Amino acid sequence: MSEFPHYSALSLRLSDEPDPAWKVHSIAVNRKAAGEDVIVLSIGEPDSPPPPAVLAEIEASIARGRTRYSNARGEDNVIEAICRYTSKQAGRTIEPDMVNFFPGAQTALFGMLMTIVGPGDGLIVPEPFYAPYTQVLGATGVEVGHIALKPEHGFHPSIDELRAAITPRTRAMVITNPHNPTGAVLTRDELTAIAELCREHDMWLVADEVYNEFIYTGEFTSILALEGYEDRTIALGTLSKSYAMTGFRHGWAVGPAAVGARAAVLLEAMLFGCVQFIQDAGAVALSDDGAFPRAERAKYLRRLDLIMAELQGAATISPRRPEAGMFVMIDIRPTGLDAETFAMRLLDEEKVAVLPTHTFGPSGAGHVRISLGMDDDTLVEAARRIRRFADVL
Ligand SMILES: Cc1ncc(COP(=O)(O)O)c(C=O)c1O
Repeated sequence: MSEFPHYSALSLRLSDEPDPAWKVHSIAVNRKAAGEDVIVLSIGEPDSPPPPAVLAEIEASIARGRTRYSNARGEDNVIEAICRYTSKQAGRTIEPDMVNFFPGAQTALFGMLMTIVGPGDGLIVPEPFYAPYTQVLGATGVEVGHIALKPEHGFHPSIDELRAAITPRTRAMVITNPHNPTGAVLTRDELTAIAELCREHDMWLVADEVYNEFIYTGEFTSILALEGYEDRTIALGTLSKSYAMTGFRHGWAVGPAAVGARAAVLLEAMLFGCVQFIQDAGAVALSDDGAFPRAERAKYLRRLDLIMAELQGAATISPRRPEAGMFVMIDIRPTGLDAETFAMRLLDEEKVAVLPTHTFGPSGAGHVRISLGMDDDTLVEAARRIRRFADVL
């Protein structure tokens, strides 16, 4: 008998140490709060306020009394709005029973993984990947297999390496497309090859598509658009980035109706419905026909060009132009510093906070990530400070 207090195996699988990914960020935020002139580019928070119509709807919805228990799978209006939005990406009709509302894409990943895999199963996720997923994967108890996303391949996965990573226990593959932190966007051919692997090996294919609205090069293909794989593809979406609604916790999962029904049971067990007026606000956001995300994309693209112009030609660092997303990776390998030392010294000497991306997985080594969620002038000032720092290394 173990001594009291005792905890579940699930709880003990989770690390209670602070996530090392946010170490530099936390120090920077504390220094800024203490009054230092720190520019924080280490987190993916959009700088725009949410659309005014969304804010107005919160008030209107509360005034209509939308403050009650709600449908566990999501309210009809928001589910219909998500169906309309994802049907366009899928090129087919997404029916309401294929959608579950979740408070954010991270929760959607949690809920869907808890529905499809468990202890003893295997799961493949290319690295680097969004660091908070480590705990989500830990909660499920799956055995995680990685393949490296390599800078020399533009951080796109090798299909052969994915195939080689599959074991008899592998039940699912999780991809992030467009990718954070690398900004890579998978082509339809790459996605089809991955989906085919999943079909050959009876696996689920889960795609986190939270940066789908911010494409700069090439084209975004949702896994929902892959014909012939509809029985195994699960796409996760959110309004956090596209509509600058991070704090609303507004996300979803779309997949086959059968897995949706199973996830609904978990949603009922865990949440018994999400906030009605938040869902109403999300339905309003999604009814703008993409105007807000288009403006956000244009803003990030302008900033991306500014950053590239400031950093291009530096002797010891080189910015990598992302295909999509809210971030720019900077290759710092010629400096000879490891990414954490680079980030800490940059913070100490020039007061700019960036994220060392080895904390998202070993293949992120030698790079730091900066966010485009900062006004143009501050971003240019940050780029100048980074350049000044790198020039004397
Ligand atoms: C790849 C990726 N997935 C999911 C999330 C979280 O999305 P949400 O706010 O909808 O939970 C983020 C946030 O940075 C992210 O970068």
